[in-house]
Amino acid sequence: MRQTRQPGASESGTATFSACEPAAVAAADVCNRGVRHAKLRAGLVGLGKQALDDHIPALQSSDGAELVAICDERPEIVREHQYHLRVNGYTDFHEMFRSEPLDLVIVAVPHNIGRSVIETAAKHQVHVLKEKPFATTLSEAQELSTLCGESGIQLMVTLQRRFNPIYTSFVQLADQIGTPFVVDAQYTLFIDDPSEGWRGTAAKAGGGCVIDMGYHLIDMILWYFGLPDRVLADMSVAARPDRTYDAEDTALIHFGYDSGLYGSLLLSRYIGPKTEHIRLVGSRGIVHLERGRIRRLTNGGQVVEALSREQSWPSAATSQIDYFCRVIEGLRPNISGPKENLAHMRFITACYESAKVHAYINPKGMQ
Ligand SMILES: NC(=O)c1ccc[n+]([C@@H]2O[C@H](COP(=O)([O-])OP(=O)(O)OC[C@H]3O[C@@H](n4cnc5c(N)ncnc54)[C@H](O)[C@@H]3O)[C@@H](O)[C@H]2O)c1
Repeated sequence: MRQTRQPGASESGTATFSACEPAAVAAADVCNRGVRHAKLRAGLVGLGKQALDDHIPALQSSDGAELVAICDERPEIVREHQYHLRVNGYTDFHEMFRSEPLDLVIVAVPHNIGRSVIETAAKHQVHVLKEKPFATTLSEAQELSTLCGESGIQLMVTLQRRFNPIYTSFVQLADQIGTPFVVDAQYTLFIDDPSEGWRGTAAKAGGGCVIDMGYHLIDMILWYFGLPDRVLADMSVAARPDRTYDAEDTALIHFGYDSGLYGSLLLSRYIGPKTEHIRLVGSRGIVHLERGRIRRLTNGGQVVEALSREQSWPSAATSQIDYFCRVIEGLRPNISGPKENLAHMRFITACYESAKVHAYINPKGMQ
């Protein structure tokens, strides 16, 4: 059993904050490392928007895991949240892995930082719930996939739509519309300044809207229809000519299958209001999925059946963490593991290649 580091003591000289420091928050449950925890012990690296909006609330209502340590390179953020959450805090994730006997870590950092966190977790035999994307490039994804296999850790990429009944109903409804032949998908939102932060720099984000927000809809396409046989992509960095950035703010992707099914996916960080939909048209009807609602329609547009769900997002985040705990315990298959996500990275890489050469690319051929 490892001991908790003494408050402030740090091998590397970086700041380490112990939750046991201030008397007001010296709760016995977090300070007593001798007690066996029934829940899996989770660390969280990256205390940005996604961690604060989704992962921390989800961990607080999780049955499978409890948050025991947080890390961010910004000391003020660590200090603020560790006192509030009563957990140990770190500004260096290496230090966190050395000091905390974690079962799993949630990784919610800028995309170019993900690799080193995963490598460190693997070294310490800590399972990883990785915020999308899996990696910044296909070759990085392949190397990480090998690493996870060799180290024996489970890695699952967060794709919370797979834990939302609206999205899981899609296949069932799609089976009722005859032969599907065309897909029309869109995920657009509005960010006033697409150059802002690490997301504006392709070297840091791995690209722009395709690899970032596009990852979710690409996952839906792969989940529902499989990896296409060809993609043709156009993309632009044109939304804010007054700013300097190189990560595409908008992309339009055409994808097709040898079966005859084809479709388009519009992605943008500069088209409001936030819109997300997938519309699948078949010979005997239409399935129309939007945020919080899925409907089966006649080809004429009349509603045959509909399912809507309020407040499904917070529970999807918790379901995802609890599901990952079951994966770690060997009770469930890993539905979004490294090998599965190589397909996403192939699709994305084919889009970037297609935009460069202005030609169709077969994602299955991407190495
Ligand atoms: N699943 C979703 O719907 C969804 C939504 C938004 C973001 N995300 C993903 O979540 C991740 C984080 O995105 P975000 O919007 O929260 O970004 P963010 O910029 O708000 O947060 C990133 C955090 O990581 C910290 N950080 C940077 N380098 C670090 C390091 N070396 N060590 C420790 N901390 C470090 C930053 O200080 C920041 O607090 C990305 O992978 C993103 O794609 C997913």
